Amino acid sequence: MTNTVRHFLTDLDLTQAEQGEVLDLAVAMKKDKYGYKPYAGPQTVAVFFDKTSTRTRVSFAAGIAELGGSPLIINSAESQLGHKESISDSAKVLERMVSTIVWRTYAQAGLEEMAQNSNVPVINALSDDYHPCQLLADLLTVREHKGTLAGLSMAYLGDSANNMANSYLLAGVTAGMHVRIAGPEGYLPAAEIIAAAEKRAAETGGSVLVTTDAAAALAGADVVATDTWVSMGQEDEKAQRMELFRDYAVDSAAMAHADKDAVVLHCLPAYRGYEISAEVIDGPQSVVFDEAENRVHAQKAIMAWLLAKSGLADVAGVD
Ligand code: CP
Ligand code: NVA
Repeated sequence: MTNTVRHFLTDLDLTQAEQGEVLDLAVAMKKDKYGYKPYAGPQTVAVFFDKTSTRTRVSFAAGIAELGGSPLIINSAESQLGHKESISDSAKVLERMVSTIVWRTYAQAGLEEMAQNSNVPVINALSDDYHPCQLLADLLTVREHKGTLAGLSMAYLGDSANNMANSYLLAGVTAGMHVRIAGPEGYLPAAEIIAAAEKRAAETGGSVLVTTDAAAALAGADVVATDTWVSMGQEDEKAQRMELFRDYAVDSAAMAHADKDAVVLHCLPAYRGYEISAEVIDGPQSVVFDEAENRVHAQKAIMAWLLAKSGLADVAGVD
């Protein structure tokens, strides 16, 4: 095979042009739900979960089926992956049986090891560091509601050291957006993530603001986003975290700083009364259920696009 296999492990794995191509494909797939059948080789897609999930599990299963493939959803605890078998051995076995490997896990390094040892695409379905599939769905949703991405300002408030903050920052600037991240001192993106975002922003015309001042992040924002204050694996810190992020809640007072036509994103599951008020998430500016549905369309697009770019499928519209 002459093509290099393409993986989707972080938001930076797509350039601005590629991200646009994937989003265009998602739009086309949303219009023609059953019109794309990319699986030329193995039709099975292995989807592993080391952490719990509703949306990711169901949206991958539905999307793979709509593409004519066969989803194999695996609770990692019931498999050998990461327990009784090395990641590299698992990769070398799986690549002979499936068209794509999708994995929700803890350490990003595990995904990298899987990708290094796999001749089929590996997709990050959430790690401690990134949630890039979610961001494709979020950007698709913003594009649907705002008509564009480049030049828009997007504010994210709350736990700004988590996977969603990193992905908002990196995917947002890749799209040419002005991304503002606000959280308390000590819970902001790592220096290397900020540096990578600034580098990407310089290429796309986007910009980066990382601040402890929620109002500064929100000022006139076109998009307002937040996420749980207690990510999977942080349950023991719950009481402390509920206090820590109190000033970064997305409620009506916070929304008063944003543009009056701002849309509100939340990857869900949401905790009303904590990171977001019921009034906001259930109110007219919220697009969270469009965002959830768009997981299916965006993930179908990235799966087909990676296969096509890896020389493993022909997909209309992808060279
Ligand atoms: N947003 C998201 O990834 O949801 P799940 O944890 O339910 O998959
Ligand atoms: N930051 C959250 C996202 C859930 C979809 C977590 O990692 O639990």
